[in-house]
Amino acid sequence: MLRKFLIAGIALLAVTACTREATETEAPTASTEKLTTYKSASCGCCKLWVDHARNNGFAVDARDVDDLNAIKSRHKMAPRYQSCHTSVSAGGYVFEGHVPARLIRQFLQNPPAGARGLAVPAMPLGSPGMEVNDRFTPYDVVLLHRDGSDSVYAHIDSIEAQHGGAR
Ligand code: CU
Ligand code: CU
Repeated sequence: MLRKFLIAGIALLAVTACTREATETEAPTASTEKLTTYKSASCGCCKLWVDHARNNGFAVDARDVDDLNAIKSRHKMAPRYQSCHTSVSAGGYVFEGHVPARLIRQFLQNPPAGARGLAVPAMPLGSPGMEVNDRFTPYDVVLLHRDGSDSVYAHIDSIEAQHGGAR
């Protein structure tokens, strides 16, 4: 009798474990983030960055605009932070330029207090969408604070660090 009970218990445990595993594999789809990306129709690196974001699970609504300056000023993107394209999350956070998608996800999963977004100023060689062979220029992902100040969110000093490896 006891043995029968134990076997039933083990079977039940196995079923529970399977269910949990199935839920975990579905999670990434459920957490797909939407981004609206404003870019110039003639700019190739913007398009490559959009591809990078889509390949990393973001649902990107890419919009070609004639007046990017209007977008930059609407999102209070000072010239020192500006790059080619500007992305906005559903929650209103702003991501300027060639920010690695994994850092946008990290930011959105845990937005730092007082932050309004991230920026990779200019267009660093080797950042997502700016690949030229294996050339790479170290860059900072800048954390934009609501009070207009900034700090370093991540220093990316190698392709490996960009992919989330050694820092
Ligand atoms: Cu660019
Ligand atoms: Cu571009």
